[in-house]
Amino acid sequence: MSLALKEPMKPTLLVSFLLHFLVLLSHATTDHDADSGSSGTSIVFTTLGRLDYAFDIFSLPIQNPPSETRETKITDGQSVNFNGHFPSPSSISLLRNRTLIRTVGGRPDAPPLQLIYVTERDGLSNIYYDEVYSDDLFPQIAGKRSALEVRNRVQIPLLDLKQSEHRASMKDKPSLTGDYLVYVSTHEESGEARTSTAAVYSTELKSGVTRRLTPYGVADYSPSVSPSGDWTAVASYGPKGWQGEVEELSTDIYVFLTRDGTQRVKVVEHGGWPAWGDERTLYFHRRGEDKWWSIYRAILPKTGPISTESVVVERVTPPGLHVFTPATSPGNKKFIAVATRRPTSQFRHIELFDLKTNEFKELTRLVSPKSHHLNPFISPDATRVGYHRCRGQENGRGSSNSKLVLQNLPSPVPEISLFRIDGSFPSFSPAGDRIAYVDFPGVYIIDPDGQNRRQVYEATAFSTSWDPVRKGIIYTSAGPEFATVSTEVDIISIDINDVDQPAVKKLTTNGKNNAFPSASPDGKWIVFRSGRTGYKNLYIMDAENGEKSGLRRLTEGPWSDTMCNWSPDGEWIVFASDRDDPGSGGFELYLIHPNGTGLRKLIQSGSGGRTNHPWFSPDGKSVVFTSDYAAISAEPISNPHHYQPYGEIFTVKLDGSDLRRLTHNSYEDGTPFWVPKRIKAVDVVWPEDKPLCEFEDLHWLNEMPSQLFGAKARFPNMTYQCGVSF
Ligand SMILES: *[C@@H]1O[C@H](CO)[C@@H](O)[C@H](O)[C@H]1NC(C)=O
Ligand SMILES: *[C@@H]1O[C@H](CO)[C@@H](O)[C@H](O)[C@H]1NC(C)=O
Ligand SMILES: *[C@@H]1O[C@H](CO)[C@@H](O)[C@H](O)[C@H]1NC(C)=O
Repeated sequence: MSLALKEPMKPTLLVSFLLHFLVLLSHATTDHDADSGSSGTSIVFTTLGRLDYAFDIFSLPIQNPPSETRETKITDGQSVNFNGHFPSPSSISLLRNRTLIRTVGGRPDAPPLQLIYVTERDGLSNIYYDEVYSDDLFPQIAGKRSALEVRNRVQIPLLDLKQSEHRASMKDKPSLTGDYLVYVSTHEESGEARTSTAAVYSTELKSGVTRRLTPYGVADYSPSVSPSGDWTAVASYGPKGWQGEVEELSTDIYVFLTRDGTQRVKVVEHGGWPAWGDERTLYFHRRGEDKWWSIYRAILPKTGPISTESVVVERVTPPGLHVFTPATSPGNKKFIAVATRRPTSQFRHIELFDLKTNEFKELTRLVSPKSHHLNPFISPDATRVGYHRCRGQENGRGSSNSKLVLQNLPSPVPEISLFRIDGSFPSFSPAGDRIAYVDFPGVYIIDPDGQNRRQVYEATAFSTSWDPVRKGIIYTSAGPEFATVSTEVDIISIDINDVDQPAVKKLTTNGKNNAFPSASPDGKWIVFRSGRTGYKNLYIMDAENGEKSGLRRLTEGPWSDTMCNWSPDGEWIVFASDRDDPGSGGFELYLIHPNGTGLRKLIQSGSGGRTNHPWFSPDGKSVVFTSDYAAISAEPISNPHHYQPYGEIFTVKLDGSDLRRLTHNSYEDGTPFWVPKRIKAVDVVWPEDKPLCEFEDLHWLNEMPSQLFGAKARFPNMTYQCGVSF
């Protein structure tokens, strides 16, 4: 395929951009199941909510009153499709001339609807270009379809991800304007803790040359290209970097030349998700002092130097509802499209905001009131608004809409196959034939093919591990997660050998937050954390009979040691600790011998950073863990709820060397387990129907600041009208 993500481009690759586009005839098949399954290992981890996402891109006409029959699904119902953008007519013409028409022999006139969007098919994010011929969308062209049409659709992946070595993330909104495809990727490592690798790239359609537009040492998100294509605006960390924010990022808005990233200048302090109204006007969102998310407008000076001083910023949308992720259409000065969260609805909806009358016009609530609709965009002729939402379960069992129990992801490390699992705290039995996991509330087991799912413990529990010697013994912590030292949590063992009545045995008895059990390789001992002294420290107890038959304190101090795992060779225990700065929320990984000697730090994610959930590799030489080491890949408000959107999966060798990032996304990845054998790299579907779309919008958007406080107290001089009562 196509354009490279490497920088700088080699001339030979430029040619391939133009020649290696593909028209997909059907759902792409993957080649990652080619491995034999003989050697290697696997890592299985959890991603909050992700396996519930079945996003497709939909659109509604703007002129007519919104109705169910007028809503058109543009994308194909495969995988997860989101962050759409209607390309500019000149870009379409260029793209078609260089690829479709010349290479594939298509006809010169463009079809009725074109879209670019991010898709996660085959586990990787890529940017696709679709041309859509649809009877219901454009009845006037029914029967006059192109020779290129395949199921009413031409579909082209725009990026060659093999060259990015599976390190790409396209989480942000792409745009195809003028001569350039502009997008964000995270594939260039920063080598610095708590530093985002999100950077904006442009690929020139004529030459196929890809350039990084973001300076090194800086993270850019949410790019928007001006109507002429000349300028790109981004939300950027600038030099100050990520401070650990997970709600609103403290980004500023910068503008630079799309051509090469030069003439970069900060235009707005504090703002995100820019969208150009015209060559001199930017709309963006910001959480104001009154705590409402609102749209603001920045007017750049016509002459003279551009800086935050010369740019005039005005608030556009009133307090009383959260308004964010604005979208514009070139030349249209009448309205913008926005996402809203109103105090009267628990769902995120798309609305238009009239810039003349300052009135909202609701769109999606009138069509599907109980779905979340995200990240709107407007067609160049301002007749349609697009957005993504969950498509739901359409085609029933066995279809691409079936929920996955294991999703295979391309792994950047060839000898490790990588999977997302539909459950938390997964652990495999020593023989690799069973998986235990948590699905709040309760502990479950399944076979690796998704069959024989069964609940083995019905109350709230977290973390699972298996006894390495005694068959069918699972350890877990019974009680609530993230609780204080004195909360009643006890280690239990669950004997699953009696299928009808799993036998539960309580191994700790004091109920002082005893959690994260992990057995020694001989099955004699369990290491766990306990809050019994008022601090969470590590202890070792008898595996079979619990603390009454033997208990030893392993670590001691006024801090939290937690999430411990015993190495397969018995030599080490790895754990997370905040002892560097107790109570700060920062966690580092430490190693200690089971006899209490040899304590040392394994890895830390900068000052105040998080490294959690450590688990040993089967050879005991590496550890897989979750960390905020790579900061955040996209503005969290552009996604559904993730408590820790920075969570990514990493591995590191026991001497602290060879840090590798395994996941690239803007979701919360966590609780990895390192499986001793290589699981065949294919997706596994739940054998029974499970509902999709059961994810939540950002919890912190439920906070609706008091209206009085918001509207009048903080903005006494602000004048605005509002046609909608809040
Ligand atoms: C595409 O090709 C057509 C016909 O060859 C030509 O008229 C048009 O100018 C081309 N468009 C671009 C943007 O190169
Ligand atoms: C503690 O255990 C380590 C690893 O097993 C061993 O090398 C060391 O000699 C032990 N130290 C003591 C004091 O027993
Ligand atoms: C509001 O307007 C008055 C009079 O124009 C001015 O004196 C005052 O400083 C303004 N207050 C704010 C918060 O801008």
